[in-house]
Amino acid sequence: MLAQIKGKRINMNEILTFRDGAEVIRLGQGTWYMGEDASKRQEEIKALQYGIELGMNVIDTAEMYGDGSSEKLVGEAIRGKRENVFLISKVLPWHASSKGTIAACEGSLQRLKTDHLDLYLLHWQGEYPFEETLEGMMELIRQGKIRRWGVSNMDVDEMEKFYSITNGDTCAANEVLYNLSRRGVEYDLLPWCKKKKLPVIAYSPIEQGRILNNEALMDIADKHQVTPSQVALNWVLRNPDVIAIPKAGRVEHVESNYKCLSLVLDSEDYQALDRAFPPPTQKKRLEML
Ligand SMILES: NC(=O)c1ccc[n+]([C@@H]2O[C@H](COP(=O)([O-])OP(=O)(O)OC[C@H]3O[C@@H](n4cnc5c(N)ncnc54)[C@H](OP(=O)(O)O)[C@@H]3O)[C@@H](O)[C@H]2O)c1
Repeated sequence: MLAQIKGKRINMNEILTFRDGAEVIRLGQGTWYMGEDASKRQEEIKALQYGIELGMNVIDTAEMYGDGSSEKLVGEAIRGKRENVFLISKVLPWHASSKGTIAACEGSLQRLKTDHLDLYLLHWQGEYPFEETLEGMMELIRQGKIRRWGVSNMDVDEMEKFYSITNGDTCAANEVLYNLSRRGVEYDLLPWCKKKKLPVIAYSPIEQGRILNNEALMDIADKHQVTPSQVALNWVLRNPDVIAIPKAGRVEHVESNYKCLSLVLDSEDYQALDRAFPPPTQKKRLEML
């Protein structure tokens, strides 16, 4: 039931299947900064619920966001809809000892008012050895508090380190900064993940709005009679191993993002985008926001 999207005019292969068979729609929803402004709260909840209704069921949050206020808002938005949501949260690196990971997850579950997460990520690398974090993750799986674990902001060398430790290769996803203006990962990280059949979750897929005034992007949007953000999202999703999680705090933005799935870009568009946002020609250290 999870991977079901409303409407029929979808042209992309919109479903991603995790290694364990779980299926999600590749267009999800981010929640950074949600729940921090009381005047926006109801609209944000409505936006998330509308996204779930459309089938954008991956919801990404973190204990870090607003010190738990994003998780609380998500908990409210998904009440009565939990089975339709693929819920992701993240542990802060300074909580990511073995015991700390378990305690942080329990805090997230409380705020989210749920008994399990579908995916729990180490937000970025910190002081604790990966072995310790992984021990906590494996215990959370044994206790049924998370279905799978993964990482975020990890470059190839860090992924190699993870994969070299026991159970490290059970990692379910890597969530990284990826959009038209942040293409460094195309050089080595995306190919590495593809080889390992490791799904990539692209965060800030429209660069928090900063790329939307780009001339090439606007020209392509005009040509297809869509918006620059729809072109940018569709472009991120051209890779079938990638999930994009735009954050939209308004219903009209959710609606607009959803429609990116119907867009078909042609080779001329891709070439124009490559000229405006050149692909990497050498290794670039992974960027993060
Ligand atoms: N793992 C990590 O370290 C990490 C880091 C950063 C982000 N993330 C995750 O990735 C999610 C997405 O990234 P992000 O929030 O940084 O940036 P983003 O999704 O690239 O951009 C969000 C901004 O774009 C606007 N927007 C959304 N849809 C739009 C549309 N159709 N037209 C015009 N503007 C639109 C939003 O406005 P409104 O809110 O007003 O709709 C918001 O200001 C986060 O929310 C978070 O869940 C993870």
